[in-house]
Amino acid sequence: MHVHRFERLWLVAALAMIVLFIGTVTYGAVGAGYGMVDDTGGQVDPTDATASENFREPGVYNGSEPGHYDVYIEAKQFLFVPGTSDPVRVPANSTVTFHVTSTDVVHGFEVVGTNINTMAVPGQVATITVEFDDPGQYGLVCNEYCGSGHHTMEGSLEVVP
Ligand code: CUA
Repeated sequence: MHVHRFERLWLVAALAMIVLFIGTVTYGAVGAGYGMVDDTGGQVDPTDATASENFREPGVYNGSEPGHYDVYIEAKQFLFVPGTSDPVRVPANSTVTFHVTSTDVVHGFEVVGTNINTMAVPGQVATITVEFDDPGQYGLVCNEYCGSGHHTMEGSLEVVP
C-alpha cells in the first residue's frame, strides 16, 4: 500500500507529539514536579506536629552553632505562628533555618522580597536555610489559596541589630 509522503510525515509528527505529551505528564508526576513538595525536614503527625521529633513548639531557637538559629513556623488558617500576632525576630549576621509545616490545609510561606518561598504541607516539614546580614523588616505571606481568609494570611519578620 502506498502512503503519501506528506501523510506519513504528519503521522510521524502526531505520534511524536503524543509521546512528548505523555512524557511531560509522567515527568511532572514522578520527576521534577514530585520534588515540589519539600519534605526536607521530615514527616510529622499533621494533627499534632509538635509531638514529632522533626518539629518543636513554634518559635525561635538557638541553633547548633553560635550565630545559627532554628525557626519553627506553624501555618494554619489564617495565620503564621509565630509571625502574625508576634513578628519572627532573628538577629542580623545570622544563619537561620526555617522549619515550616501546616496543621490544616496546604499553605504557602514566602518572605517578601527574598527567595524564601515554600509550600507548607500538612504532615511534612519544609526546611530552608538563609543568611541575614543586615537588619530589616520583611513581610510574610501565604501564596497558596487556603480558604476564605487566604488574602489576610500574613505576618512579619524582623532582623534586629
Ligand atoms: Cu494560607 Cu493562603
